[in-house]
Amino acid sequence: PPVSLIGAPTDVGAGDRGARLGPEALRIAGLGEALVARGVDVLDRGNLDGPRNPWQPPHEGYRHINEVVAWNRLVMDAVYAELKGGRMPILLGGDHCLGLGSITGVARHCRENGRKLRVLWLDAHADFNTSQVTPSGNIHGMPVACLCGIGPRELTHLGGDGPAITPDVVRQIGIRSVDQGEKRLVKEHGLEVYDMRYIDEVGMKRTMEAALADMDEDTHLHVSFDVDFLDPSIAPGVGTTVPGGPNYREAQLVMEMIADSGRLASLDIVELNPVIDTRNVTGELSVDLVESLFGKSTLMRD
Ligand code: ARG
Ligand code: MN
Ligand code: MN
Ligand code: MN
Repeated sequence: PPVSLIGAPTDVGAGDRGARLGPEALRIAGLGEALVARGVDVLDRGNLDGPRNPWQPPHEGYRHINEVVAWNRLVMDAVYAELKGGRMPILLGGDHCLGLGSITGVARHCRENGRKLRVLWLDAHADFNTSQVTPSGNIHGMPVACLCGIGPRELTHLGGDGPAITPDVVRQIGIRSVDQGEKRLVKEHGLEVYDMRYIDEVGMKRTMEAALADMDEDTHLHVSFDVDFLDPSIAPGVGTTVPGGPNYREAQLVMEMIADSGRLASLDIVELNPVIDTRNVTGELSVDLVESLFGKSTLMRD
């Protein structure tokens, strides 16, 4: 399908500044060109224009909630419009608070078209915090909870009528940092989490088989790719690194298996922070992985 790149240059949800430069770093790493080389019809819509980062401490458990709401409205509308126009949105973040707007837009499209939704959340973190349990107040640690209806009304009702999704549509992969209170919430709401312990024991192939199981031609697969999913030794350019993530081969396999499923219909690439990166290696690796996500493989297969 034709693809639209949507830049959302903001770090209002993060604890470090710099993810606002992510869209440019992905472009400079050749994201658009790489997709064109794969035969994909690509339109770069440029960047959305939201409020600046006021860089304030948390207020009642949230940092920058008004700015987070404003950015997520823009993202939700942009993502929804692309899907409605028959194009696949690729959201270039920006921090992971934007997954809220992106997936809310996707969920609306699915509802209107009778499509089932599956969300693959590739991340070191569960991003299932609330204002009560967050250690930071940073809203990039909360989007999954908000999507499931846990959080402040401005965020849980971004799409209007109610929560965008239920926890059963989500599969989290690569998780290795979950805060104390967040753990309890994740269990309570029955999120399906394939954490690093699971991946170590079972292997990435079987993990992905499980995460991609039970989809059919009516399933819209959304991938929310937080670049800190990757091991920091190969992906240093993120604000919240956690050791012990998937290595290069495992990450490629993840993307290849998603490509093979044939269901990918929308994508977020978030948390890339060029200020922390070294010579855009993390941006370039992200582009390599997206190539695999769009079906690039060795001559052994095609
Ligand atoms: N759990 C931590 C917090 O809530 C870190 C969240 C990191 N999230 C992210 N999207 N990188 O502050
Ligand atoms: Mn995240
Ligand atoms: Mn993360
Ligand atoms: Mn490359």
